[in-house]
Amino acid sequence: MFSRIFLAVTFCVIFASCDRTTTAAPGTAPTIEQESASIANTSTMSLQASFDALPAPYSQADYNLGRRTFKNCQSCHTITEGGRNLVGPNLHGVFGRTVGTADGFQYSRALKAENFEWTPERLEEWLANPGDYLPGNRMTFAGVRRPADRHAVIAYLMVESGYSSAQNADQEAEMNENPGIPGSEATGEGNE
Ligand code: HEC
Repeated sequence: MFSRIFLAVTFCVIFASCDRTTTAAPGTAPTIEQESASIANTSTMSLQASFDALPAPYSQADYNLGRRTFKNCQSCHTITEGGRNLVGPNLHGVFGRTVGTADGFQYSRALKAENFEWTPERLEEWLANPGDYLPGNRMTFAGVRRPADRHAVIAYLMVESGYSSAQNADQEAEMNENPGIPGSEATGEGNE
């Protein structure tokens, strides 16, 4: 009698657990997706937070707008450390780097003839209208016309290309040496 009840209970347990495993299996997939989605969100949030440490106006820029705008550059530029040169040079560490000096990239004579370091202000002008800023260069790209897009993509470059606060200080020093950098003109021009 007891053994029969025991057997029945055992069967129930086995069936119940079988049942649970079959229903649990399809249930696990969305859980994993949800988890990685929330990991992605967290990293987007912390990258957005790292914008706050940038100088204005980049501290106000929208990370996702910057990421989307950078898609315009991606066919020609990598941004990761040690990334390949494509049609254009790798952009890792571009801030504070002398123009035309990425390892192993064949620049045009127009860029090789220049001798300045890239700062956010220089990038503003370059990206507003690459053809006018350094005539004869080989970056066949119309530019980023809207100031908000430009600020966002430059902020994105700063965060993703290893821009440091030390370079920030250098850049301020350079601004003091060259107060004549015409930043305001380029900003007004791109308004639509
Ligand atoms: C169609 C390809 C193409 C696109 C799109 C493009 N670039 Fe370029 N870029 C180049 C090329 C080629 C050069 C080198 C130009 C030369 O040597 O004259 C260059 C040069 C540069 C430089 C100077 C790098 C250095 O080492 O001095 C920067 C900065 C830059 N691009 C940023 C950008 C950004 C940011 C975007 C997107 C908003 C972008 N580029 C879109 C092709 C491109």
